[in-house]
Amino acid sequence: SMAPAAASKSGSDLSLPRGEPLPALQPLANQAAASGQFVGRLAAAPVPVALWGDQRRTTFWAYNDSVPGPLLELWEGDEVEIAFDNRLPQPTTLHWHGMPVPPEQDGNPHDPVPPGGSRRYRFRLPDDCAGSYWYHPHPHGHTAEQAYRGLAGAVIIRSRRDPLRHLPEKHLLLSDLKLDDNGQIAANDMADLHDGREGQFLLINGAWQPQIALARGERQRWRIWNASSSRIIKLALPAHELQLVGSDGGLLAAPRDIDSLLLSPGERAEVVVTGRFHADKPAGLISQPYVRGKRMHAEQTQDETLASVVEHGMRPTLALPATLRDIAPLGTPGHRRRIVLSENMADARAPFLINGRSYDMHRIDGTGEVGRIEEWEVVADAHMDHPFHLHGTQFQVLARSVDGIWEDEPFLAWRDVVNVPAGEMVRLRFVQALPGLRMYHCHILEHEDQGMMAQIDFL
Ligand code: C2O
Ligand code: CU
Repeated sequence: SMAPAAASKSGSDLSLPRGEPLPALQPLANQAAASGQFVGRLAAAPVPVALWGDQRRTTFWAYNDSVPGPLLELWEGDEVEIAFDNRLPQPTTLHWHGMPVPPEQDGNPHDPVPPGGSRRYRFRLPDDCAGSYWYHPHPHGHTAEQAYRGLAGAVIIRSRRDPLRHLPEKHLLLSDLKLDDNGQIAANDMADLHDGREGQFLLINGAWQPQIALARGERQRWRIWNASSSRIIKLALPAHELQLVGSDGGLLAAPRDIDSLLLSPGERAEVVVTGRFHADKPAGLISQPYVRGKRMHAEQTQDETLASVVEHGMRPTLALPATLRDIAPLGTPGHRRRIVLSENMADARAPFLINGRSYDMHRIDGTGEVGRIEEWEVVADAHMDHPFHLHGTQFQVLARSVDGIWEDEPFLAWRDVVNVPAGEMVRLRFVQALPGLRMYHCHILEHEDQGMMAQIDFL
């Protein structure tokens, strides 16, 4: 009864091999001589990949020839230095999505590395930033293309005080693959440019419908990244117990029982999965239908299998602490702003806007103050959902509207992406700790490339 993801979306017979064990993300080697440092090297370049295990090759763009890119495992407080080489035919940058790094090290569109060029990214991580982050390109106008061709990698910042370190950990980086009839990565068509790209295959760690081993009674901590350029994914694990324990910016204050998890493009979550295997429920990881107001692509109508979960013996159920972390609510704001995301289908040169304007790298859309609490009301005055993302810091969502009526957010969490459903509003608070120019934008990357981005200078 589960429809395979590829069945209806492609005119071709292309299918990918499936059912291999979930590949592990390969860690980037740390070349630092001293502890407290991470020194590594990343290169972006085209790479041929044998998706079918035979002579056919699909050209991806990849970091260090790996799709997804290598996993960066860092510690709070680390001094990080990444030497980067651009061997793509386009300018690119390395953006440290969600991480508190200074703007000039954050791979802003203003600082492109030209084809054949190199640069070094250097930053020191603060002492309280453990969580799951990622890196991806951010050159203006080409971010979506570079991401859908394969450029994305996971970052984990670890804490020495992690209350869940006793749990076995799995990493699931979700990405979207759209192939043409020749098995090459398809260019974006009109529908992709409008709705955001959606391919035939949703991959996990580069594999289609892999197998995840879980024992009956076993508790595993899963870190999940939505690194697709545009898909909003509603995840569920019907046969098992599922608890949300972390968001973009690390652990929640306490675990929360959940039935499903809506993950927008760019967003991350940490869940604890307890193996239960009910005979009458599908054992796998599925994506459930979610309507986001697409006009040119069909909305998903059935559950789709993303991974099978296979029973692997029996294990004792390890304890899950009742409290995970302190999260203090941000207090009275020093500055309030209203950010309106809108679609303007009448003008093909400026189809996606923020506060009525299309992104201009040379225009500063506002100024703020370092250390001052900001409160933003983000409004999707639009037919589609637009997942909102802010650079350089994490925010707290205070309230969201449902059918236009405000509802308080039931729990505190640190996030850097929040979906703003069509016609709705989200109220959030944050502080920028570092001065400089910060982008905010829709993380449907096609929308970002076409103007749904703005920038604020913190002084
Ligand atoms: Cu994940 Cu401005 O980006
Ligand atoms: Cu959007």
